[in-house]
Amino acid sequence: MLPTRLRKNSAIRNLIRETRLSMNDVIYPLFIVDGQGVKKEISSMKGQYHLSLDMLAAEVLALKEIGIRYLILFGVPDEKDDMAMPAFDENGLIQQGIKIIKSADPDMYVITDVCLCEYKSDGHCCFFEENGDIQREKTLGILSKTALSHVVAGADMVAPSDMMDGRIGHMRKTLDQAGYENIPIMSYAAKYASSFYGPFREAANSAPAFGDRRSYQMDPANSREALKEMQLDIEEGADIIMVKPAMPYLDILVQGKELSYLPMAAYQVSGEYAMIRNAVDAGLMDEKVIFESLISIKRAGADMIISYFAKDLPALIEQHEG
Ligand code: PBG
Ligand code: ZN
Repeated sequence: MLPTRLRKNSAIRNLIRETRLSMNDVIYPLFIVDGQGVKKEISSMKGQYHLSLDMLAAEVLALKEIGIRYLILFGVPDEKDDMAMPAFDENGLIQQGIKIIKSADPDMYVITDVCLCEYKSDGHCCFFEENGDIQREKTLGILSKTALSHVVAGADMVAPSDMMDGRIGHMRKTLDQAGYENIPIMSYAAKYASSFYGPFREAANSAPAFGDRRSYQMDPANSREALKEMQLDIEEGADIIMVKPAMPYLDILVQGKELSYLPMAAYQVSGEYAMIRNAVDAGLMDEKVIFESLISIKRAGADMIISYFAKDLPALIEQHEG
């Protein structure tokens, strides 16, 4: 512990504090759905909403008002199909959503989640061969096509979350060839096959119809595998490396920081959110635990945090950062 003379009052505690949070640290996820006039709370994630396109502009202005500067978008269409067509449809939810957000607030920085599971009938992130192997070329082609459609619509950054081998290189090439060399790719590089995604599966209506994602997500018992995944994505041209989930995998963040000089992101996922939110709402823990969870992730090495708590952060900063 620090000597008492360094802990005596808030002035000295503030002076020596190593880690701070600001609204530049957090990225807020938004879920866009079909329909009209929809702003419906996601029952597995209290305080988070499904929004239809016509409700987006007002929501974005409200978020801007509280200081949110960065968004990551998820599309949750009613109709999915075998080809995952709604993922790359130029009039798809994400593609239209980006335009609406940018016209409401041109300064809002818009990142898009790029995956197929929300758009494909079977809820998987990839296409399969008859024998159950991943159909790599086809999957990469559709993923890159999806990313490009987001960028054409005005996305500032794309974030592929599928975990297929070779996708970062493929996507980088696709974007470069189309003249989008300046659009960064944030790679969900170390993505674990985690039960902490439970509440999200309801939010994104993306529970796999058969099997699970263990053939393309990582075993929670392994860390060297994560380093290898990060290394490969870096070699393929990723600009930002993500670890997901966040709190149960802080050691992976620390190791990722040692591995490269790239900026690192952490995704505090739906289960981490729901667990803390529900415990706070039930009076089991003080609200301060939200701030503690975010600052722990930053302390471990995250340069940015995707978090459903982003909306709570301004009030928490007010309380904690004297
Ligand atoms: C889609 C995707 C998932 C999450 C982000 N992108 C679900 C999954 O991989 O199963 C999880 C986010 C969360 O739990 O908050 N591939
Ligand atoms: Zn997916």
